[in-house]
Amino acid sequence: MKNFALNFKFAASFLMLLLLSGCFQGRKSSKPPIHLNPNMDKQEKYKAQEKSKFFENGSVNRMPIEGTIARGDLHEDTRYYYGREEDGRMIKTIPVAVTMKLLERGQERFNIYCSPCHGKTGEGNGIVVQRGLIQPTSFFDKRLMAEPVGQIFDVMSNGKSNMPSYKSQIPIADRWAIVAYFRALQKSRSATQNDIPAKVLEGLN
Ligand code: HEC
Repeated sequence: MKNFALNFKFAASFLMLLLLSGCFQGRKSSKPPIHLNPNMDKQEKYKAQEKSKFFENGSVNRMPIEGTIARGDLHEDTRYYYGREEDGRMIKTIPVAVTMKLLERGQERFNIYCSPCHGKTGEGNGIVVQRGLIQPTSFFDKRLMAEPVGQIFDVMSNGKSNMPSYKSQIPIADRWAIVAYFRALQKSRSATQNDIPAKVLEGLN
């Protein structure tokens, strides 16, 4: 029994030495590090766009089965998803409820994503323009004042000449919030006395 315990201790320390010798700090080696626990680091798998020997057409990517739509990809409501009527005309009213909360969200998003070029007031004098980008049209331009909301949504979604698309950065719900704030900005320069609630007007007089 005593002998066995001694042997065991000897074997264990020998093993420890062997293991430690592999990870001696500061030692140079051109061999790849020993990977004791590979977890699932190396797996048989295909990556997107890779060649495939398995599928007949040689492509790893599979097409969706004809007539099917992925969950969440059904964009039947053309007003909300594209800012257009079903016949393709730009919509004239915002397709979500315009609340103070929506406007505040729109203001926050506008200041982040749009003000660098358009300026916080929408005049087109943002910091990027001051550094040399072509100046965009002022939001108070006559044509833009009359543009339907669908057009503003479309410019954000798909870009227009020098204006890049913001489809991938700004989710649809936020794009509508920005459209609402865009209209509020325009209103701030074109409101008449009649737009002021009677109570507020009383306080002004
Ligand atoms: C990188 C700079 C840049 C940013 C950021 C930017 N824009 Fe623009 N935008 C432009 C330029 C430049 C034009 C002028 C396009 C042209 O040449 O007609 C423009 C044009 C527009 C127009 C007028 C389109 C028309 O019909 O003439 C609208 C509306 C607009 N932008 C909204 C936005 C909104 C909303 C955002 C934020 C989501 C935004 N832009 C962010 C550069 C920018």
